[in-house]
Amino acid sequence: WRQGYRARVLAEILQEQSRLPDMIEQTPEAFSCPALILHGSSDKLYSAQGSHAVHRLWCQNIQGGDAPGSFPVLKIYDGAYHQLLNEPNRDEVISDIIAFVNVAPQGFITIKLKTSWMQEQMGDLFEHELQLRSSSPQRIVIDYSSPNIAKEMHVGHLRSTILGDTVANLFSYLGHDVVRLNHVGDWGTQFGMLLEYMRRKDALDGEASMVSDLQQFYRSAKQAFDEDEDFRKSAQTNVVELQGGSEWARTAWNRICEASRKEFDLVYQRLNIEGLQERGESFYNEMLPDVVEDLQRKNLVTESDGALCVFTNVSETPLIIQKADGGFGYDSTDCAAVRHRVQDEKAQRVIYVIDNGQELHMRMVFSAAEKAGWLGEGQKRLDFMGFGLVQGQDGKKFKTRSGDVVRLRDLLDEAASRSEAELRKRAEAAQRDIDTQKEEQLKKDAESIGVAAVKYFDLRQNRNSDYRFSYDQMLDPKGNTAVYVLYAYARIAGVLRRAEHDVSSLSSSDLVLTEPSERALALRLMRLPEVLTQLEDDLLPSRLIDHIYGLATDFTTFYTECFVIGSEQEKSRLVLLEVVRRQLAQCLGFLRIQPFEQL
Ligand code: ARG
Repeated sequence: WRQGYRARVLAEILQEQSRLPDMIEQTPEAFSCPALILHGSSDKLYSAQGSHAVHRLWCQNIQGGDAPGSFPVLKIYDGAYHQLLNEPNRDEVISDIIAFVNVAPQGFITIKLKTSWMQEQMGDLFEHELQLRSSSPQRIVIDYSSPNIAKEMHVGHLRSTILGDTVANLFSYLGHDVVRLNHVGDWGTQFGMLLEYMRRKDALDGEASMVSDLQQFYRSAKQAFDEDEDFRKSAQTNVVELQGGSEWARTAWNRICEASRKEFDLVYQRLNIEGLQERGESFYNEMLPDVVEDLQRKNLVTESDGALCVFTNVSETPLIIQKADGGFGYDSTDCAAVRHRVQDEKAQRVIYVIDNGQELHMRMVFSAAEKAGWLGEGQKRLDFMGFGLVQGQDGKKFKTRSGDVVRLRDLLDEAASRSEAELRKRAEAAQRDIDTQKEEQLKKDAESIGVAAVKYFDLRQNRNSDYRFSYDQMLDPKGNTAVYVLYAYARIAGVLRRAEHDVSSLSSSDLVLTEPSERALALRLMRLPEVLTQLEDDLLPSRLIDHIYGLATDFTTFYTECFVIGSEQEKSRLVLLEVVRRQLAQCLGFLRIQPFEQL
């Protein structure tokens, strides 16, 4: 059936353009090719400029029907272009978009896009800002970052923060109504012991010093909790008092949260994270009894050793929605949170950016939500956007020399100071003096580059894999790094600055694509909508990095092969470079990385 299926798909694609059916006769081998490679994804975007019309052309017709799982893939593949160019009759006009299609027996469809059409597309990108909109905008809650109060933010939170922020920025750009929620761990038994420890230490109303002390308090409190029966009892009483709203406990708790918040905000500022609302576990406290009742009414609750459990379809272990002692925990909170997000926040999609270690927990919550009917008839989508571990150079858990978890702050400091050293070296090599003013700028640049490098390196990985944290790799000016991309950008900006013609005086009619490397750049530029459409669905930000890196390397190739300034094609090439510059800036903008006009 596969053969027949492929033939049908191909026929459908081809019928889209009235002149294409002729082609079927011209290439009967299409129906016997061993593996037709189709590529693309759901077509949810459209662009005002129609810059990915080709993509849409193929996808529309392949969508629906009896499409199996994760297909279809149709490569808009320009690789064979040069050989074919010289063959007679190949270049005949089949449509406005396509110069010709060739189906190779190995199973590739090679499509040569018409140069005139590509020029039009580039012209559009030059004249108008690329504005992509989702054809079905949704209200989307994204739960990310979510560190724990009174603890240090660590690399796991770094990943969640960066991944979540990138996806949130992208979704906003696509026209979705995005709610960014920081589900901080600000509730639970740990506060009982923390309060107890601080009460005994007389540290309950301390102010500034607390920020750095909290972690230490936490450790000592935990130790006392484990060793001292009396301490344990008081700690438990404190939890009850806190959850019951007792004045002293609330005040002390608030102070702890405030201190942690200040720390988190410092990191968010450095990472350029904006719009993230804190809505921690405590927010759901009031709703917990009602959620339990709701689940009971729906006959989903089983009692086991005094605890109230919900068994789901994903695991033999249940969710514990109320403990035997009447208390509520992480499971209860997440059940309340998911219900609140879909019912009160009216989210149509909720995305959880959490480490893979919590996947089972989240899947159980998703299953409970479905069984409880909170998701309607499949109108609500819940995504677990998991990620792997960040490891040290040795492939083991990422730790400091003393064995502590690496603090996010220290990690960013280190990246910044290494990039500072590199900038100094460059300045020296170029025999540039660094006066006080330049000194300040250099420090600022080093911070931006360091942070950008950390972000980029993280996003570059497939989020599901573990990766080894390596300063050398992430700061390598020749590798797939923010540093490489930032230099490429600055080089483009430099060319545009130095050129005789001012870009604003040029027009799309100045553009002519002649060289293969120009064509390659244009093709790359046209693929952004496809990249974003895929990302919208599979939530893999590494796709965006691939695109950014592709743009930067295609530019490098172009720039080694083609003269710009002073060449006959100067005007045309400036137009093309301006389009590249803008798209690079836009993509880096999704990562909240500000490129440099000069480096
Ligand atoms: N605070 C948790 C942690 O640090 C992450 C919370 C993730 N979000 C959630 N809804 N459970 O591991």
